[in-house]
Amino acid sequence: MNKRKILVPLGNKSYAVKIEAGILNNISTELLKIGIKSNRKILVISNEEISNLYIEEFLKDLKGSNFEAQICLIKAGESHKNLETLSEIYNVAFEFGLDRNSLMIALGGGIVGDITGLAAATWLRGIEYIQIPTTLLSMVDSSVGGKTAVNHPKGKNLIGAFHQPKAVFIDPETLKTLPKREFNAGMAEVIKYGVIKDKSLFEFLENEKNKNKLTNLENKSLIKIINNSIKTKSHIVSEDEKEHGIRAILNYGHSFGHVIENLCGYGEFLHGEAISIGMKIAGDIALEKGLWSKEESTRQENLIESYGLPTQIPKINKENILTILMGDKKVRNGKMRFILPKGIGEVDIYEDIEDALFLKYFS
Ligand code: GLY
Repeated sequence: MNKRKILVPLGNKSYAVKIEAGILNNISTELLKIGIKSNRKILVISNEEISNLYIEEFLKDLKGSNFEAQICLIKAGESHKNLETLSEIYNVAFEFGLDRNSLMIALGGGIVGDITGLAAATWLRGIEYIQIPTTLLSMVDSSVGGKTAVNHPKGKNLIGAFHQPKAVFIDPETLKTLPKREFNAGMAEVIKYGVIKDKSLFEFLENEKNKNKLTNLENKSLIKIINNSIKTKSHIVSEDEKEHGIRAILNYGHSFGHVIENLCGYGEFLHGEAISIGMKIAGDIALEKGLWSKEESTRQENLIESYGLPTQIPKINKENILTILMGDKKVRNGKMRFILPKGIGEVDIYEDIEDALFLKYFS
């Protein structure tokens, strides 16, 4: 199948995720289909790199259907995912006269999506927004589920809100211009879904033929893995939108990943690379605790590495690890919670992991 549609069922906040090659050229038609009339102003938020590739055609399409659209370019990179950039978006929103009936569109990767979501959640106490993710990582994870955020100097995504998008449109064609390293980083999140919930996806990813098709960016295979990933995410988010319980399993590999991103400096490792190492550490702890077998742990490690992702733990200062883990949003009532695998396709949340058990993985 060359197109898919997944519903994220959240009562009156429900929305559809459409995956289709070429959909980026027809966004105005999609907006009209979901009831967004052309008398509504649209602020499109993107960055220079993405804008150079797509914005001309994109704005032409919107204007062709009489939408009044304005572009707001933000600086690329994790170091710009902050309150200053958010404030720049508010300035443009004000100048453009964005009102309660207006709409924001995030066109780009996870940083553009997260910050646009937060801008939409807070501008005039909340307006609608659409996610159009252009990286694999944002397609399978951050564009769906309504987590929006910017970073605080003391930690990643500490300032944010839950604000669900009105719709998500995914065009796998945009992956053709994505640097290989970023594509691989996105595969880390896809592998995550295999380990936490979807054994058949894990096996699909292990298969050499499928690996070739994915590496060659064949649309059908890309659509399959994006669809599987979002289906799992949609189930989990609809059960636990605000992460009081089960949604935490989506953070598999992320606690250690955040430690690595933070202590190595944002930019040294891409998010997906850091969580690859995080999944390897979680896998090793699970092995030591007898939660899963050596064979399963090795399969996870091999799969991660086969998509060009790292599993070697970098040298980092041990002393800061606990501070970062305790400052993480995953801490509940002062207790750190870890997501550990019990088999391929099954994880659980543990609070009884002694510090020594994970600290020893860091030099
Ligand atoms: N990225 C994890 C979540 O959306 O819950």
